[in-house]
Amino acid sequence: MATPTSIRADKGVTASRKADHIRINVEEDVASKGVSSGFERYRFQHVALPELRLDDVDTSSSLFGYRLKAPILISCMTGGVPEAEGINTVLARTAEAYGFALGLGSARVLLERPDVLSSFEVRNMAPSVPILANIGAVQLNKGVGVEECRRIVDLLGADALVLHLNPLQEALQPEGDTDFSDLLPKIEQLCRELEVPVVAKEIGWGIAPDLVARLLGVGVSAIDVAGAGGTSWSEVERHRMSSPVRMRVAAAFAGWGIPTAECLVEARRVAPEALIFASGGIQNGIDAAKAIALGADVAGLAGPFLRAASESEGSAYELADELSQVIKTAMFATGNRTVPGLRQTSRLIADGQSAAIVHLRRLDYQTRHALDFVDITDDVLGVVRDCGVHEGLVHISSHHTTAAIRINENEPLLIEDFREFLKRTVPAGDYQHNDLDRRLNIPADEPRNGHAHIQHLLLSSNDSVPISGGRVQLGPWQRIFLIELDTARERQVTVQVLGR
Ligand SMILES: Cc1cc2nc3c(=O)[nH]c(=O)nc-3n(C[C@H](O)[C@H](O)[C@H](O)COP(=O)(O)O)c2cc1C
Repeated sequence: MATPTSIRADKGVTASRKADHIRINVEEDVASKGVSSGFERYRFQHVALPELRLDDVDTSSSLFGYRLKAPILISCMTGGVPEAEGINTVLARTAEAYGFALGLGSARVLLERPDVLSSFEVRNMAPSVPILANIGAVQLNKGVGVEECRRIVDLLGADALVLHLNPLQEALQPEGDTDFSDLLPKIEQLCRELEVPVVAKEIGWGIAPDLVARLLGVGVSAIDVAGAGGTSWSEVERHRMSSPVRMRVAAAFAGWGIPTAECLVEARRVAPEALIFASGGIQNGIDAAKAIALGADVAGLAGPFLRAASESEGSAYELADELSQVIKTAMFATGNRTVPGLRQTSRLIADGQSAAIVHLRRLDYQTRHALDFVDITDDVLGVVRDCGVHEGLVHISSHHTTAAIRINENEPLLIEDFREFLKRTVPAGDYQHNDLDRRLNIPADEPRNGHAHIQHLLLSSNDSVPISGGRVQLGPWQRIFLIELDTARERQVTVQVLGR
């Protein structure tokens, strides 16, 4: 077995940037300054009676067709220099032994120098876990196309290709590639044509929610938010600089970026169903468990694994063991038997979050005719999304006695059936309510709508749906309708969101 190369020994010898990166990450203080991952702002609420056996806690989850033993990714780091070979060997053996997904470092060098393949070649050491190849998205502007990406994936036997988005790092590097224009269409083409899933990640400054949505919109299969609070690449690059001005420019960004926990919550808000990884500043198993509880499918660590692997294979195994055990124990002590259970848990409390959120919004509609079934689901989901309630209830209430709120399926023939049912059960006709001569204080335009009131009695003015894990818990066929029982009218609906 290849042992990790001693990183300290050859500081002055290797001139390569990749070797510099490894050395600096191991030897120097490259942590971000003045910005944190944000996980410290959350705590788990302890469950004194979990009602399950520790042995039954199952930390496994699935990724790209593989079964992970724990929802952990060793994030993309290295390859392409002799120093990388030992490190990737240790990381691959660790990933295989502990059932973690494994990312490799940028493989652009492989296109230029096929002789460095051995520093990336880990497929046979980690046959039962997903391996993620990696390249900078900016390379799509530098002549790398689908064919080159396919070659990288094939050479490495990878299960997915990670595109890293690192504009700030490139801007700080003297040799950086800084043309980030018009990349989205190229990413779209790659997603369309490459045979394996494409993942988009940052490298430690985070991905804002609108960009998460745009990347998913062009076909990216997963997002790693890779937020701030861990390894700071401006700090890494600062250690490679000699000009005092450039060093101060780099230092200005030590506190840059979106905290990982914040990116993650926002990414999950805009993409409730997407595959989302959280990395950047995840230091231990509790942070990883918090990331899952905030909605991540997988939690990624880079710096901590690099430091462990560069020490010894034993240290990397110990870190993996510790992470696995802490996640399992945290699941037990929060009463969660499975990873999907942890993802939905209501036992993660944000600091100062004890006060409940009560959010009210009025929605206005113009109905078009009697028995108009207006599907207001997306409007209601929008209200819930905007107020950021993670756990709670949404209540939808009509202001009227002839316009109902009901949940059912939006299938045109079924809606015709509903209309027929209501007309047959309570037809328009002679009702005492329509005898305007016998009623007092009626407005001039009072309609003869006794049937609409009686239909409304069969339906309801309101409905409620639980919110859990930030998601309104509607079944796949359930839609929320405002149902007009009178003729075309202006209608108001109040949506109230309660929770935290
Ligand atoms: C030595 C080293 C090399 C890295 N190289 C890459 C890379 O080639 N591609 C990439 O997408 N990210 C790379 N990263 C970034 C990590 O994948 C990760 O996003 C970042 O370090 C934040 O995670 P952390 O706080 O756990 O270190 C590298 C990180 C380290 C420490």
